[in-house]
Amino acid sequence: MSTGLVIDGLCVRVGEKDVLRGIDLRVGAGEVHVIMGPNGSGKSTLAHALAGHPGYQVTAGRVLLDGVDLLSLDPTERARHGLFLALQQPLDVPGVRPRDMLVAAGASPEGLEARIDDEARRVGLRPDLLERFVNVGLSGGERKRAEIVQFGVLRPAFAVLDEIDSGLDVDALGAVARRLAAATSEWGCGLLAITHFRRLLSDLRPDAIHVVSGGRVVATGGPELAETLEREGYEPFRAL
Ligand SMILES: Nc1ncnc2c1ncn2[C@@H]1O[C@H](COP(=O)(O)OP(=O)(O)OP(=O)(O)O)[C@@H](O)[C@H]1O
Ligand SMILES: [Mg+2]
Repeated sequence: MSTGLVIDGLCVRVGEKDVLRGIDLRVGAGEVHVIMGPNGSGKSTLAHALAGHPGYQVTAGRVLLDGVDLLSLDPTERARHGLFLALQQPLDVPGVRPRDMLVAAGASPEGLEARIDDEARRVGLRPDLLERFVNVGLSGGERKRAEIVQFGVLRPAFAVLDEIDSGLDVDALGAVARRLAAATSEWGCGLLAITHFRRLLSDLRPDAIHVVSGGRVVATGGPELAETLEREGYEPFRAL
């Protein structure tokens, strides 16, 4: 039974810089939370730290996924425990085919092709693009869709999605947001989505929106918060 993601007082240093300075977040199972915030405020740093990227040093705080201390697990164990990360810039993985990567990540080989095809159809990605090496030769938007195909096949307990909407055309944006939102009811998936654009929110229908500025959560609210941001920008939040 999933209890979601709990982040308490998370502080992360990158090189010499204390980028995250006490992040507190609680995302229940099946909930959708969105993080917005100015460039350089630490949003991707949070995603990398949750992934267990070695360049991101956790100096304080704790992170629990379904009651398990994520920070004590290596990146592979975190994924096996049900954490899925879609990075802002999905990497090429030459020599590895998506199918093999999915099996390595724990997907059952049984009926895998049909599941990949089905997920590709849901986000409007030509299935033959998933027969190439992972992300090699794919356009920016195709990579983002391919990440969501992996997500749908793996059915993780929790997904962190860093700017999954950047580079997506308007049709793909709706399809991706709907695929993600459906996962919350299909298997109780919890979602933490980082975005700059309100556009993603209409189909994603988040339970909460958080503003991260200067490495902290400085405001939390509902959809009205995204409207305020669009109208007034981040200036009112910078001094907080
Ligand atoms: N690997 C790194 N080496 C040096 N500095 C880094 C590194 N990663 C992040 N930083 C710094 O940490 C700060 C936060 O970066 P981060 O990528 O988390 O911002 P962000 O909120 O995701 O911004 P954006 O909206 O532009 O994606 C920035 O000042 C950035 O320059
Ligand atoms: Mg970022």
